[in-house]
Amino acid sequence: MTHPTDTTPGFATRAIHHAYDAQANEGALTPPLHLTSTFAFETAESGGEMFAGDRPGHIYSRISNPTLDLLEQRIATLEGAEAGLALSSGMGAITSTLWTLLSPGDEILVDKTLYGCTFAFMRHGLQKLGITVSHVDMTDLAQLQAAISPQTRVVYFETPANPNMRLVDIAGASRIAHAHGATVVVDNTYATPYLTRPIELGADLVLHSATKYLGGHGDVVAGLLVGRAEQIQEIRLTGMKDMTGAVMAPFNAMLVLRGLKTLALRMERHSSTAAEIADWLEAHPAVATVHYPGLPSFDHYDLACRQMALPGGMIAFELKGGLPAGRAMMNRLKMITRAVSLGDAETLIQHPASMTHSTYTPDERAEHGITEGLVRLSAGLENVADILQDLEQSLEFLQEQAA
Ligand SMILES: Cc1ncc(COP(=O)(O)O)c(C=O)c1O
Repeated sequence: MTHPTDTTPGFATRAIHHAYDAQANEGALTPPLHLTSTFAFETAESGGEMFAGDRPGHIYSRISNPTLDLLEQRIATLEGAEAGLALSSGMGAITSTLWTLLSPGDEILVDKTLYGCTFAFMRHGLQKLGITVSHVDMTDLAQLQAAISPQTRVVYFETPANPNMRLVDIAGASRIAHAHGATVVVDNTYATPYLTRPIELGADLVLHSATKYLGGHGDVVAGLLVGRAEQIQEIRLTGMKDMTGAVMAPFNAMLVLRGLKTLALRMERHSSTAAEIADWLEAHPAVATVHYPGLPSFDHYDLACRQMALPGGMIAFELKGGLPAGRAMMNRLKMITRAVSLGDAETLIQHPASMTHSTYTPDERAEHGITEGLVRLSAGLENVADILQDLEQSLEFLQEQAA
């Protein structure tokens, strides 16, 4: 009998077991929930030493908490990073990170397509403080190379990007950024570490709206960040502790820990279902375009094959009848749920221009490649036949109209 030489447990195993010892916790199979705001010091001196950073231990739950600590270790191992940080939301992770990294006079280069509230934070949160925010089409690395300057402190992008699915070459963008001393921050919400691990490709910091696939059940708003231990500690102690206070509640950490246990299984299913839906949509006479990394017709198909283990659960598409047809189709759906957010068990559908990306003006959407008729679908975990049947009946009227 042969034995595998690599003894590192696999992704799904680490998502379930990493950094937890039941025997050290009364034999409890699932980790305890530490519902406490503050922690007792054994002596006045030991408390002072903790504040000085000379003694390990928990002080106050806006800085650290054992339940969050476990979640931070889990996401760090899954992303292949040294350390993790749990925050109140994806936006909490973004604001705590960028307010730590940037000062007035600095420049941040960001991709053209961003989640609507991230875009709003760049426009209103960072620019207001004298930070230059420059949008570059990072799907073309030559444009990134041409735009980067000595003032560029951060290069920031999503891949796949919300909502139009554009992919950025993480290794290529990181090489350009590092040659100019800039920090690379990647929003990995759509892919999750099961599909793409940006740190292994050269990124410095990776963040998530854990509200989405990592939580996985639509019952929690949460954020996660990973990177090098020293940089994570700086963001914990300045950005999170003192600037945003965007700390995750221990109960929410427990929900995300529970979600992570099934992440591998769920991503396999989200991906296989989305692949079937994308194929089906592409062949439908009412559909004009489908943007899905698993389709050979996808603009960044080659990069998707290199950078993503699976094409994921998100699809963007446009109907031939544009926005009116998209709205009419959405209103006829019976099971597929009209809602923002993504990565849940339920298949969700929404219209970015009037919902998640209404933070852009119409001109900004046009400039940033977010078309008015685009519809975004998050493939759920229901039987794929039922999802297709619902789409079919909702599109029937368009065929009748065309006949
Ligand atoms: C790609 C992406 N990043 C960040 C966020 C913000 O996350 P949260 O809603 O958890 O604050 C979202 C939310 O939809 C998102 O889609």
